[in-house]
Amino acid sequence: MWGISLKSQEEIELMREAGRILAITHEEMRKALAPGMSTYDIDKLGEEVIRSYGCEPSFLNYQGYPASICTSINEEVVHGIPSKKRILKDGDIISLDAGVIYKGYHSDSARTYGIGEIADTSEYLIEATKQSFFEGLSAARAGKHVRDIGIAIESYADECGLGVVIDLVGHGVGKNLHEKPEVPNYATSRRGPKLKPGMTIAIEPMITLGDYDVRWLDDGWTVVTADRSLAAHYENTILITDGDPVILSKADGIPL
Ligand code: MF3
Ligand code: CO
Repeated sequence: MWGISLKSQEEIELMREAGRILAITHEEMRKALAPGMSTYDIDKLGEEVIRSYGCEPSFLNYQGYPASICTSINEEVVHGIPSKKRILKDGDIISLDAGVIYKGYHSDSARTYGIGEIADTSEYLIEATKQSFFEGLSAARAGKHVRDIGIAIESYADECGLGVVIDLVGHGVGKNLHEKPEVPNYATSRRGPKLKPGMTIAIEPMITLGDYDVRWLDDGWTVVTADRSLAAHYENTILITDGDPVILSKADGIPL
């Protein structure tokens, strides 16, 4: 079996460009969000932006996934399938997960937003989920192990009184959307591989206002919280270096 790939400087530059286009895609989708919009419209907009840069959406047809963007509303954690029948309404929260392939290299990132006026608890969940990513990021340093990322995310979520989904994990990313290693958002019993400069991984905490347990809906994709509590998702593709980790899924002038 192949081990964990270490990316060359050229590969990193391609992933940086994939990540820049992905950040622009997220920003265009964010600006368009409003009550009355369907998740189908979000998907079409995201796909259009990705293709306008000559890129391919990573998710379309991935293991049969039928769209370019994952649109997960409220108790939906991840992999919600866009539909003309799913209309955003005031007070909803929505997670948008997207992937871009640029010259054969992937970038993968997710954001969660509120629609119109949202409850304080919803805002708290969104902000804490984002912060849990940054806690994980600060542990993503050469010489540490994959488990240190999960420990950082889980201990922060615990402090916040929030649930950490364990059935889905982050992952290596590069020539493929999903590469080694798996990157859990919790403290595993094994320490996992040692982090090395040149590794590129997607750190993607999925956090709930309730319990960690999840279910798959009959569509075979949509993951919901078992207790139907609200869930949020925040993800970036990052690079391990000799020093501070670098977020690759970002663009100048676009907030993370
Ligand atoms: N970011 C998601 C993940 O890493 C990708 C969605 S997979 C798809 O699992 F099949 F929905 F495309
Ligand atoms: Co991912």
